[in-house]
Amino acid sequence: MRRVVCPGSFDPVTNGHIDIIGRAARLYDEVVVAVLTNISKQALFTTDERVEMLREATSHLENVRVTRFHGLIVDFCRANDISAIVKGLRAVSDFEYEQMMSQMNYRLAGVETLFMTTNPLYAFLRSSLVKEIARYGGDVSGLVPELVMDRLTERVAIERSATGAGGVL
Ligand code: PNS
Repeated sequence: MRRVVCPGSFDPVTNGHIDIIGRAARLYDEVVVAVLTNISKQALFTTDERVEMLREATSHLENVRVTRFHGLIVDFCRANDISAIVKGLRAVSDFEYEQMMSQMNYRLAGVETLFMTTNPLYAFLRSSLVKEIARYGGDVSGLVPELVMDRLTERVAIERSATGAGGVL
């Protein structure tokens, strides 16, 4: 079975992520979406919430499985019989860091990284911007799946009431 992994923080998943996952799912037998658990404490959503949102947003893709991971992605690959990582590349600015990670992962365990250029519709899209826009009451429709939009609206409202007017942590 040709199995690849799409790893990330997904805080939260965007339509750009879904585009890459969907395109990978057309090329491989199985795509494992691996959600990193130990990201900064400032994550807006818990790992369980991020996994749940991804599961819902990819439920139309039969060969996509969503799970969590911690530690090195190459260890996750070894444990799950995965020989390649799939990543989306938005712009040249992404390339330098992604290149370093891909070379390190190859050096560590011979795990390949395959880059897909992002759909131009989403080239400007990143989770951190989506959160910032939502926190200031901006419109993120079309940038994230609808179920994520609802969760975002709810979460930033909670943040706002916890932190006072403005609501930016
Ligand atoms: O969505 P992100 O935050 O850009 O995803 C980054 C991620 C999770 C793919 C990357 O940080 C990662 O693979 N982390 C796991 C730890 C690891 O293997 N680090 C060494 C990479 S060379």
